Amino acid sequence: MRDNDFKGEFAQTLEVSTPDHPYQRKIFFIGLGNEKNNQRHHLIRIAALAGRHISKRALENVAFLLPKYFGGNACEIIALLCAAGFNQGIYNLAIRRSTPDRFQPKRVDFLTPIPIMEESIKPLQNRMMIEANACTLARDLVNTPAGELNPISFAELIAIESEKTSISCEIWDEAQLKSNNMNCILGVAQGSAIAPRFVILRYQGADHRSVMAWVGKGVTFDSGGLSMKTGEQMIDMKCDMAGAATVFTALLAIAQMKVPVNILALLPLVENMVSGNSIKLGDVLVAHNKKTIEVRNTDAEGRLILADALSFAVENQVSQIIDLATLTGSCMVALGTEIAGLMSNENPWAEKVHRAIVGAGERSWPLPMDEDFDELLESSIADISNVAGNRYAGAIVAGKFLQSFVGTTPWVHLDIAGPAFAANDSRFHAAGATGTFVRSLIELAIRYRD
Ligand code: BES
Ligand code: MN
Ligand code: ZN
Repeated sequence: MRDNDFKGEFAQTLEVSTPDHPYQRKIFFIGLGNEKNNQRHHLIRIAALAGRHISKRALENVAFLLPKYFGGNACEIIALLCAAGFNQGIYNLAIRRSTPDRFQPKRVDFLTPIPIMEESIKPLQNRMMIEANACTLARDLVNTPAGELNPISFAELIAIESEKTSISCEIWDEAQLKSNNMNCILGVAQGSAIAPRFVILRYQGADHRSVMAWVGKGVTFDSGGLSMKTGEQMIDMKCDMAGAATVFTALLAIAQMKVPVNILALLPLVENMVSGNSIKLGDVLVAHNKKTIEVRNTDAEGRLILADALSFAVENQVSQIIDLATLTGSCMVALGTEIAGLMSNENPWAEKVHRAIVGAGERSWPLPMDEDFDELLESSIADISNVAGNRYAGAIVAGKFLQSFVGTTPWVHLDIAGPAFAANDSRFHAAGATGTFVRSLIELAIRYRD
């Protein structure tokens, strides 16, 4: 290390060959940095860097030596974060490539620096595997091309996977959407050759009466509709169902771990397309809760389908709501690609969610929700417009629109447009879906009763 000027700075790396060793061929060192880089998300990145490095070669066995200390965290937390990060790093994006350029090792062992750590970490093995599989599935779903993953095929897959667990799955087709007044979902979907679906998943893990609603935006492709996107804006829009994928895969994990909570997961699935049947600018939709919406921009479609889903959650008298949506480019302008915007109508619930996110080593930041933003959404012909008259505070305006459908139910909206999908490769993850917030939702469920 001295010869190679390795000082252990954050994410500094050094690979050393050890040809004389009986079985250990190479050692890869990664710097942990200092107190400036000791938040949980830093450790995830270090482990992801390790995963990405070793997955460049086809290896049989890899051993990951856990750090003894990291930012004052218990060794259980260190192990969970390293497992999550390492799994993130070895993800193979090239699912449709004939010659792979990434290789997952056959076996990974996590080694403990002090023997007593091993005992406390062993019981976490199950959770590590379940979380890793959930994140990988979320990423695979988001990375699947929209020509393959559409509202119908996505709903079918959800039904099949839920069937293997204790989750009950109800799927509404077009006729049921009509008879249940889910007119915003129908309105957004009407330009598409593929019919929409509304997926209702119920997981009952506890005897108590409180139920959390998890709502995920499921736009399997967002062309913008008649307010069409440019090619450059549209290219990654298969990612627009990341909210639904996150909610679904986290719920699978919850059921596999038998977490004692009750969850109602709602996934409105649509394709936002252009055709002679597309919803037109100026059309008025009547949402599930009877509120009328003037559609002044068909590219603000996520909030429309969420309006129906949130109204349905409120009607079902859930205790709290959290929605996840790749909702606005504005949120990326405000907070960048790594941090989700967190909007809420109730501080204790917002704080509980934020703490779970930080606990999982992920990142969100609150945006203000002052009343005076509401007037930006006034419509002259309907109860509300789906967009404001100007571009300012776009992420908040979208949040305010959603808020008008949740009433007094404690609610958090996470705008994950930035962190859900990476346009480019980085040292820490492959381009494409990232699987972020799957583990945050799991953490929220595990902490729910505390
Ligand atoms: N799905 C997009 C938001 C998005 C943008 C997600 C970039 C991921 C990356 C959403 O439906 C959308 O088009 N939002 C509009 C809202 C506008 C019309 C008020 C946007 O952000 O431009
Ligand atoms: Mn859109
Ligand atoms: Zn969208």
